[in-house]
Amino acid sequence: MNMMRHLKVPNSDVEGAFTKLKENNWLASNMLIFASENGKNRLIPLNNDAPEMPNNLLKYREVNCKGKIDNRVNPNWLNHLKKTIDNEIIEKYDELWPASHEFIGDMMIVRIDEEIIQFSSKIAKAKLDAHPKLRLILSDQGVFGELRIRELIPIGVRNNNQIILENIPLELCKTKVIVKESGREIICDPSIAYFSSKLQTERQETLYFAKKLKKILGRPINICDPFCGVGPAVSSLLNEPNLTHNILASDLNPEAVNILFENLSKWDKRKYPESSGNIDWMYPNRLVGVADATVVAKNKNYIGKWDLLMINLPHKTLELLPYLLPLIDNNSPSLIRGRIIIEESKIEYTNKILHEILPDLLPGSKSLSLKIKRDYSAKLRLCSFEAWLA
Ligand SMILES: C[S@@+](CC[C@H](N)C(=O)[O-])C[C@H]1O[C@@H](n2cnc3c(N)ncnc32)[C@H](O)[C@@H]1O
Repeated sequence: MNMMRHLKVPNSDVEGAFTKLKENNWLASNMLIFASENGKNRLIPLNNDAPEMPNNLLKYREVNCKGKIDNRVNPNWLNHLKKTIDNEIIEKYDELWPASHEFIGDMMIVRIDEEIIQFSSKIAKAKLDAHPKLRLILSDQGVFGELRIRELIPIGVRNNNQIILENIPLELCKTKVIVKESGREIICDPSIAYFSSKLQTERQETLYFAKKLKKILGRPINICDPFCGVGPAVSSLLNEPNLTHNILASDLNPEAVNILFENLSKWDKRKYPESSGNIDWMYPNRLVGVADATVVAKNKNYIGKWDLLMINLPHKTLELLPYLLPLIDNNSPSLIRGRIIIEESKIEYTNKILHEILPDLLPGSKSLSLKIKRDYSAKLRLCSFEAWLA
């Protein structure tokens, strides 16, 4: 680094001197303040606009020494946005700038309000500037259809050190990535199969309940995940030594099952087919493949075998629950873990419906009631429940 002007300021005076230099725009940008050799002073880098020091700073000595580049990036993305958008506009849409986002591997998924959609590129650039390890920014258009696939539009990409915001080449928009969760690697591709890193806490809770169930049963448990997607819930359960015995993991989306097979090959350390096929016993303890959950629940070879049933299709849980019950092994206590999207005013009513649909609860278990996890929309709430069955 080149030699440049610094103001040598005793440690006790740094704050005051720094403020004065900043007010006058005399600080060199992207350069670090650092300690002098004896540690008693700080060297504050000056820019070319800084004149000879005025009276109030005259008492400090100017020295010429090698500057140190500040490689730290300001993590507040709004500060980066303010570099490209006028303050007036920032203030006008104050509440709308997307504060929350979802990281999936080296991608960020961000939901941009209609009203500020014209600033998408600038938002992408600011997010990429604030997070130097990010590769791709995707605008979230919502989850659609039976397969719950998220529509994602690339709005910015980092290729080597260049940021591209328009006409982004398709080959730079790869959405198949590896996510690390609880020490495991999960392959996912949110543009072809549902995946959300926001469900990690939910999965940890499921793991906690699964361990509890194992304790009650005094043996490894049989797990049924008939809406498994790429298998993130199975991943955390498989990660726990001696927790699981048989596993049913299936999904209606063949693309999700393709990735599930890739994931299982790694987690199980044994081969699964290169591409998805209909549900079948791949190994004596692995029943996996493409399937409609309601059809699985009618197959006499698959029913009555499972201790833990996971239902993660929240907008249809109530409708599907009665059809899925035959999967449960009712010879011993079991657990259903589900998620439901419901209006807040209907929670009490839905609790009653759940009690009516489900068989007897395990005596002494916590009563069955929906817990609000987050807002799904202005009216709707995403809730989860655990039902411990006798
Ligand atoms: C909300 S996603 C949950 C995926 C996964 N459990 C997770 O946590 O990432 C719901 C999944 O159910 C699948 N699905 C929808 N209808 C289905 C059905 N009738 N039978 C089986 N799977 C279905 C979708 O393809 C999707 O992968």
